[in-house]
Amino acid sequence: MVVVAILAAGRGTRMKSRLPKVLHSLGGRSLVERVLESVEPLSPSRRIVIVGYQSEEVQAAMHSIPSLEFVEQTVQLGTGHAIQQLLPHLEDYTGDLLVLNGDLPLIRSETLQQMLQTHTRNKNAATILTSHLPDPTGYGRVFCNDENIVQQMVEHKDCTAAQRENHRINAGVYCFRWPDLAKVLPHLQANNAQKEYYLTDAVTQVGKVMAVDVEDYQEILGINDRLQLATAYEILQKRVKEKWMLAGVTLIDPTSITIDETVELQPDVIIEPQTHLRGNTVIQTGSHIGPGSLIENSQLAENVTVQYSVVINSTVQAGSRIGPYTHLRGQVQVGAGCRVGNFVELKNTQLGDRTNAAHLSYIGDTVVGNQVNIGAGTITANYDGVKKHRTKIGDRTKTGANSVLVAPLTLGDDVYIAAGSTVTEDVSDDSLVIARSRQVVKPAWRRKSVENETTDQHKM
Ligand code: UD1
Ligand code: CA
Repeated sequence: MVVVAILAAGRGTRMKSRLPKVLHSLGGRSLVERVLESVEPLSPSRRIVIVGYQSEEVQAAMHSIPSLEFVEQTVQLGTGHAIQQLLPHLEDYTGDLLVLNGDLPLIRSETLQQMLQTHTRNKNAATILTSHLPDPTGYGRVFCNDENIVQQMVEHKDCTAAQRENHRINAGVYCFRWPDLAKVLPHLQANNAQKEYYLTDAVTQVGKVMAVDVEDYQEILGINDRLQLATAYEILQKRVKEKWMLAGVTLIDPTSITIDETVELQPDVIIEPQTHLRGNTVIQTGSHIGPGSLIENSQLAENVTVQYSVVINSTVQAGSRIGPYTHLRGQVQVGAGCRVGNFVELKNTQLGDRTNAAHLSYIGDTVVGNQVNIGAGTITANYDGVKKHRTKIGDRTKTGANSVLVAPLTLGDDVYIAAGSTVTEDVSDDSLVIARSRQVVKPAWRRKSVENETTDQHKM
């Protein structure tokens, strides 16, 4: 049985931010949420987050996570002091306590599982994660004997020059036999460069402590400033992109593409440069996205193409072509084999199959049938300044260039709208609508007007 405690009370001064460090976002989720996710597969019996700096904001950000407990550390006197706050909450507890720094967003669940196994198998009083870093600046150093038994832990600021030569660092992940830790916690001292109560001091007092090395040191990157936040994002992106490339997705110029971990892609999808895939987006096989597109919370079926476009909260059926310069938003549903083209915005609109809206249109709150042609520059006037109104367009209907469809409006099947019409009344099937003023032509008008002008001048 394991109880998890996450250290999230610090301000994170080095972030230079009003926002508490653990709430900074990394690829759509906060640092502390990511730590919580990493412990999920361990099925902890309790999860306790230690909060302090802007604790209300931190708690509010996580209020939707069920059965999460919060313990307050009202003044932040160090990581050891933070864990001291657990004493009244774990009085009769005899199991293990897994402690994780809240600024450790890349740790893998498998690594935690291995560490817990080592802990139990060797009957350790404590087990900690360590790694050998090329640049260990800022991290606490860990000194072990040949059997990986921890002898000493020294914070970077307290190290001698010789101790700094040791590149084996403390990752900030600890498993303690709780009763052993509970005994030493009240006796911690703050005799160090930062005048803080260090959890690392407790580690070396509990008994037999073993260090487990993490091979991929990228996993244990602690986020202390925005530079490290950006590095973590890069690492995360690399993981995601490698996964999809090995699964049969082509990424052209991968460094210019970003993909949330929540996105799903099928083999033979091609993603071009400067494309960003976010949220619960799904893209099916044969689709070709980009260059220069943003797809968020949208589902694209097979063989869809999207160029230089923004697609948000929408679905597109097989074989449709979107863009260049299209904006789909607010639950748009595009049918199969459609073409939604140049400078077209669709909002809360459904297109049937093989329907085109190829040039310069805004269509909002509209249901469009199959094989419709929305002429260049067709606009739905769906807003009267107070309310939004709906438009319906039947199958095979064609709207002429520059039509204005004033909603609420229903156009039947096989309707023709003449170019430049402003349509305000419903139209029945098979009709032709001309709703514009007639052309007036005055022959030889220029000569007359020129003559008038010259006689006017003579008069002067
Ligand atoms: C800590 C470790 C260091 C390790 C490094 C790994 C200590 C003394 N040092 O250093 O050995 O190499 O993490 O990243 O533990 N926090 C509180 N209350 C406090 C102080 C901090 O909850 O009073 C929380 C912070 O919010 C943070 C975590 O503890 O999530 C770590 O604190 P931080 O100040 O980042 O520690 P480091 O100096 O990085
Ligand atoms: Ca840190």
